[in-house]
Amino acid sequence: MLFKETTVSGITVKNRIIRSATHDGLADENGAPCDKLIAKYEKLAKNEIGCIITGYAAVSRNGVSPYPRMMKIFDDGVIGKYRELTDAVHRHGVPVILQIAHCGRQTSSKAIGLQKVAPSDVLHVFYPDKAKALTNAEIYGIIDDFVSAAVRAEKAGFDGVQLHGGHGYLLHDFLSPYGNRRKDSWGGSLENRCRIVELIIKGIKEKTKLPVWIKLSAEDNRKGGMNITSSVEVCKRLEKAGCDAIEVSCGTVQDGMNTMRSELMPMDAVFKYREPCASFPKLLNKIALPAANLINPLIKQPKPLENFNVENAAIIKKNVSIPVIVVGGIHKVSDMEKILSEGKADFISMCRPFICEPDLAKKLRNGQTEAKCIMCNYCGLVIEKEPTKCLYGKV
Ligand SMILES: Cc1cc2nc3c(=O)[nH]c(=O)nc-3n(C[C@H](O)[C@H](O)[C@H](O)COP(=O)(O)O)c2cc1C
Ligand code: SF4
Repeated sequence: MLFKETTVSGITVKNRIIRSATHDGLADENGAPCDKLIAKYEKLAKNEIGCIITGYAAVSRNGVSPYPRMMKIFDDGVIGKYRELTDAVHRHGVPVILQIAHCGRQTSSKAIGLQKVAPSDVLHVFYPDKAKALTNAEIYGIIDDFVSAAVRAEKAGFDGVQLHGGHGYLLHDFLSPYGNRRKDSWGGSLENRCRIVELIIKGIKEKTKLPVWIKLSAEDNRKGGMNITSSVEVCKRLEKAGCDAIEVSCGTVQDGMNTMRSELMPMDAVFKYREPCASFPKLLNKIALPAANLINPLIKQPKPLENFNVENAAIIKKNVSIPVIVVGGIHKVSDMEKILSEGKADFISMCRPFICEPDLAKKLRNGQTEAKCIMCNYCGLVIEKEPTKCLYGKV
């Protein structure tokens, strides 16, 4: 099933392998993809991937990530460069979906040079500066920003957009009672919490012909937050609002290595790339790093490490009729075929395996049985300072 041509949201795909959204850290100062990023996507496309979802692109100035060189799509001036990207991918018969996002609380006002905003001013452990709770008018402004981003995406030739509704970003915070403590018509009941996403989907449908996908954290490990029962209800509502496909993920940036799991914390990378450790004096690092490595095996990591969203995807799939994509620790062709043949998901998506092997889809079709990525998560830390890269074999 994996390598059989099919369609998703009316788009032809040559197989069921999707590159899940991956921030590449290769946009220019305006947020447009630079030539290196276009070449990176063309390499994925040339190597028989079914479909590419781009890294997240910010829809608003106050929704930008603190990671350097994030893509942005709040200005018409970037459309030309995005068009180069879609042309390069389409040359190889591969569709490309733009992931659009607002970082909400998961940024810092200092990094973006603006007051950061969120549904409610809940403290974020990694980004402790206070977010401003959005006013009614500002929420409508953000809905317009998402819709305008999709209009630009259509002009640039994208085959669809994916809303980033997971991992603790703004839309996830609206959906989740943990991040959304509002008492007005945007908070409280499930209907109110879904309102912003439903209005975005409807707005995009009115203004473009693009399919609208969403990525969700079906479980977010936050007290009173998203769980599979509430996620099923969210998915049913979003399907009714016009959503065309759901990608099932989990976790938030705040809960560490849950979204992308690994056996151990990548301590060398934490000390090299994550603040405040990255700015520690060298001498202090010489003492602190070995100490951290010593206690590392005692730090409890989320389990299982492989196929960790499959069961939630299967539950969601039973409750909706739109395609379900599953991501998270999927490495083996045998697992992919099993997920598909047992009807637990319609498509398989991967992130880290494609950082490690951009030609993975072709290799898997030619007989390689699993991805080489060792799930060390060094790539997840590198992005805090530099463009995304794999450190396979160097750790
Ligand atoms: C370097 C890196 C960048 C990522 N960027 C994004 C992103 O822009 N948008 C998103 O939804 N998820 C992002 N993720 C999460 C992945 O898409 C994926 O959900 C997660 O890594 C689990 O899949 P995997 O086990 O196949 O890596 C990123 C992960 C990594 C490691
Ligand atoms: S650094 Fe490379 S091997 Fe390690 S998780 Fe990232 S892609 Fe996989």
